[in-house]
Amino acid sequence: MTVSSPRILACQILTALMQHQGSLASHLNAQVLSQTTGPALLQEFCYGVCRWQPRLQFYLQQLMDKPLRAKDLDVQCLLLVGLYQLLFMRTPDHACVNETVAAVDTLGKPWAKALVNAVLRNAQRQQAELQALAERDYSVWYAHPEWLLQQLKQDWPQHYRAILDGNNQRAPMTLRVNQRKASRTECQALLAAEGIVAKPGLLAPNSLYLAQPMDAVGLPGFVEGMVSVQDEASQLVASVLPLTPGLRVLDACAAPGGKTCALLEAEPTLQVLALDNEARRLPRILQNLDRLQLHAEVRCADITQEPAAEFGRFDRILLDVPCSATGVIRRHPDIKLLRTPAEVELLVAKQRALLAAAWPLLATGGYLLYSTCSLLKAENSAQIAQFVEHHADAEPVALSIEAALACDFGVQLLPQADGPDGFYYALLRKRGVQLA
Ligand SMILES: C[S@@+](CC[C@H](N)C(=O)[O-])C[C@H]1O[C@@H](n2cnc3c(N)ncnc32)[C@H](O)[C@@H]1O
Repeated sequence: MTVSSPRILACQILTALMQHQGSLASHLNAQVLSQTTGPALLQEFCYGVCRWQPRLQFYLQQLMDKPLRAKDLDVQCLLLVGLYQLLFMRTPDHACVNETVAAVDTLGKPWAKALVNAVLRNAQRQQAELQALAERDYSVWYAHPEWLLQQLKQDWPQHYRAILDGNNQRAPMTLRVNQRKASRTECQALLAAEGIVAKPGLLAPNSLYLAQPMDAVGLPGFVEGMVSVQDEASQLVASVLPLTPGLRVLDACAAPGGKTCALLEAEPTLQVLALDNEARRLPRILQNLDRLQLHAEVRCADITQEPAAEFGRFDRILLDVPCSATGVIRRHPDIKLLRTPAEVELLVAKQRALLAAAWPLLATGGYLLYSTCSLLKAENSAQIAQFVEHHADAEPVALSIEAALACDFGVQLLPQADGPDGFYYALLRKRGVQLA
C-alpha cells in the first residue's frame, strides 16, 4: 500500500471535486484515510478548502498575474491548500510555505515551484490588504457561490447573513438516545463516566450534543443500540408526526434509515414500510434496524414508478425527499462547489413528483410529513403551497417548533451554532373530500 502525504491526497481529492467527480464524503472513505500519514490533517485540508473556496480562489486571483491553465488544476488545488493553511490554520508560516513548495515535486511540474513560493510569500505579506478587499464582496467574504447567496438573500432577507455565517461553522456531533434502552440523563452519565462531555439539546427530547466529535463506534452503548448519531432537527421527526401504537407507516425515501429508526424508537409497534430507490443504500437501513433491534419491512422501490395499489393505504407517510442539502452545508461544504441552480430545479420537479405519487397512498384522516434539509423556499414552503393549491383534500396542519421560523406553509429551522441543522417540516392531513 502506498502511503501518501495528506497535502498530496487533499490536492488529488480537491482536483477531482472541482471536476465534479464524486463528493467529499465519497472521496474521504475509510480506505483513503488509512492511506495517509495524517488522516485528521487530510480532512482539515479538504473540508477547510471547500468551506472557504470562494474566498481562497479570490485571494489566488489577486496574487497571480494570470490564471493557471485548466490542465494545471492540481497546482491550483495545491495553492488553495497552502493558502488555507497559511490564512486559516495555526501552522507556522515558514513550515506551510516550505511544505507546499516541496509538494510540487510530487506533481511532476518543477516550473510551479517558484510560482507556489511567490504566491504564498506574497499572501503572507499582504494578508491585511487581501482581507480588506474580500470584505467588499459578500460572496467572497462569506465564501458562497453568487447564485446561492442571492437565493438565500431573496428567500431570507432578514436572516441570510446569519445563515451564511452558520454555513461556515463546524457542525456539532449530536446523538439520539434510544429511549427504549436508557433515558437521556442516564446516557449522559454513562458518557461522563468515560470522560465524554455531552449536553442535552433544547428541541428534541432525546438529543445530546457532544463537546468533541468522536468516532461513533467508540461511543459507549453504540454497538448495543443505546445511541445513534443524528442531528437534532432530524430527530424532531418523531415529535412532529403524530404517532399512536400499531399505525401503518410509509417511509418513502428511507435510506440510510435515520428517521425510520427515530420513529420506531418512539413507537416500536408501528408497521413501517421503508422504501428507497437506490438498492446500494438499503443495507444501511437494515444495519441500523439490526443494531437498534427494531423491525421494518425494507424494499427497493420508487413510488413514482410503481403502481400505487401495490402498497395499499397508510395512516402516516414520511416524505423525507432528496433536496439541495443547503441546510447542511456546514457538514458538507463541498455543496458550495458542486450544487448548481439547474440541479435545484431538477430536485424541485422530483419532489413534486414524489408528493403527487405519495398522496394517493395516504388513508383519509391520515398525516403526511414532508421534510427537507434545504433552506430554499422553492423546495419547501413554495413546494407545499403549490401542492395544497392542487389538492383540495390536503389540509396544512400548524406546527410549532421552538426556534423554527413559521413559513406560509410549514416551519423552517436555520443552522444554529451548537444547535440543529437547517431543516424544513410541513405536515398535511388528508380530509374527506366533500362532494358538491
Ligand atoms: C434525504 S435522503 C433520506 C434520508 C433518510 N430519510 C434518513 O433520515 O436517514 C433521500 C433519499 O431518497 C432516496 N430517493 C430519491 N428518489 C427516490 C424515489 N423516487 N423513490 C424512493 N427513494 C428515493 C434517495 O436514494 C435518498 O436515500
